[in-house]
Amino acid sequence: MFKKSIGIAAFAIATTFSASAFADGHSAGDAVKGEKVFKKCSSCHMVGPDAKKKVGPPLNDLFGRTAGGYEDFKYGKSIVAAGEAGLVWTEEEVFEYLRDPKKYLRAKLDDKKAKSKMAFKLKKEDQRADVIAYLKTFSKPAE
Ligand code: HEC
Repeated sequence: MFKKSIGIAAFAIATTFSASAFADGHSAGDAVKGEKVFKKCSSCHMVGPDAKKKVGPPLNDLFGRTAGGYEDFKYGKSIVAAGEAGLVWTEEEVFEYLRDPKKYLRAKLDDKKAKSKMAFKLKKEDQRADVIAYLKTFSKPAE
């Protein structure tokens, strides 16, 4: 419990600094609700100090990381290509990615054949915003 409240305090500080960065129409998410949403992700992803790769890469320090950039995870070609083309994960990018990873990569790479190894979509905007708020508690605050 103690650890969790520290995470949420850090989140509150982080949102104060980055409030304008996420201002394109949707409001900032709720990290507490996001923890529940993350249950949908946790069959494939881990966060926290003991996070290891599963079906997908660990999602600690996601924000500011190059797409496809976790060492020691075997990504699909398309996400690696997007990272090589300069894609770095921000809140906005993750928000779009989660809606439909394959479509997202196809649009980013302008390649109708691009593929995603992540076979999961999160359609609901509020759930995407909430899970991003939760993931931010495992990333360093934005500079
Ligand atoms: C069925 C398994 C599965 C589920 C469920 C899943 N993912 Fe993924 N995720 C993956 C895989 C596999 C990749 C690697 C994608 C690739 O190589 O194309 C990935 C990649 C990612 C990436 C890019 C990471 C990077 O290092 O570039 C993010 C961000 C992400 N997932 C977030 C989420 C979130 C948040 C959820 C829950 C809402 C979720 N994923 C649910 C399997 C999953």
